[in-house]
Amino acid sequence: MKTKITQLSASETWILRHNVMWPTKPLDYVKLPKDLEGTHFGLWKDEILVSVVSLFIEDGSAQFRKLATETDKQGNGYGTALLSYVMQYASDQKVSKIWCNARTDKTSFYKKFGMIETDRRFTKGNQDYVIMEKVIWKG
Ligand SMILES: CC(C)(COP(=O)(O)OP(=O)(O)OC[C@H]1O[C@@H](n2cnc3c(N)ncnc32)[C@H](O)[C@@H]1OP(=O)(O)O)[C@@H](O)C(=O)NCCC(=O)NCCS
Repeated sequence: MKTKITQLSASETWILRHNVMWPTKPLDYVKLPKDLEGTHFGLWKDEILVSVVSLFIEDGSAQFRKLATETDKQGNGYGTALLSYVMQYASDQKVSKIWCNARTDKTSFYKKFGMIETDRRFTKGNQDYVIMEKVIWKG
């Protein structure tokens, strides 16, 4: 399997985000107001983009958003490889923690990375979320 991880522009993430996460909404729904301030990453398999994620560093902590693997390519370790890479990248930036708004049905996936559920929960667009975080650098 020939895979590589590269940085992407925000617009390169949108179609995959849309296809995987919110296919019934307009494309604009998956564009984030802060997309231009983010650092975006993609995992390529045989020159095809199969997985994306976006990282936003603010006030010393890093939030990753919109982790998505092409639906028919899920379960092959691509999301794990990409998130591991991004956690290392965030750690190299010396942020104190990494966090995300996790879909509640994805918490076990994130727990494998050492992330823990906080008590902060919310619902948006019919989807339940819990904020999960991991302290990655204690200075
Ligand atoms: C969540 C998501 C990004 C994971 O991406 P992925 O590429 O499927 O991730 P992986 O293949 O690394 O891991 C998925 C599962 O396959 C398992 N897996 C990992 N490598 C594997 C391999 N080589 N063979 C078989 N299974 C494997 C993982 O253990 C994981 O199991 P879990 O879901 O029980 O934790 C993907 O399911 C997705 O895009 N979902 C829709 C969008 C979404 O919900 N995003 C997250 C919002 S919080």
